[in-house]
Amino acid sequence: MATKTPTRSPTHEDVPFDRLASLGMELEDIATGDQVALADLVELAEDRGRPASHYLAALPLATELTVTPSPGVEIRVCAGTCQRYGALPLLDHLVERRMRGGDFTIAPVECLDRCDTGPACELRSASGNLVIAPATASAIDEALDSL
Ligand code: FES
Repeated sequence: MATKTPTRSPTHEDVPFDRLASLGMELEDIATGDQVALADLVELAEDRGRPASHYLAALPLATELTVTPSPGVEIRVCAGTCQRYGALPLLDHLVERRMRGGDFTIAPVECLDRCDTGPACELRSASGNLVIAPATASAIDEALDSL
């Protein structure tokens, strides 16, 4: 769990844990084995009228499930305390980009050990790992476009 937090004030609200727990149970229902296909998660979120990011945050925080991986880059996004610093809009941005096409896996995690500079994300590819913290949608887009 987070050991450090930014000295600045939170900019966003996190999803309460009891909500995450019930989203986690909905995810268990659509999982295949221990994985959930992103398209299925997005469809579920649309059906329930919730942002996909809330379900993505529930994966590492309330389940043992992961998103079914794609062959490309893995983008780990901290969905822990980094929610309070804008991790959820980043996740929604990545979902939008991924659903338009694109070959990467969105991998929400509980912490990336960059808590003091959140929101944190890490791109993992064959050519190496790149940590972006604090992460913005445009910084992630730029990194993805340069791969
Ligand atoms: S809470 Fe530790 S990196 Fe986000």
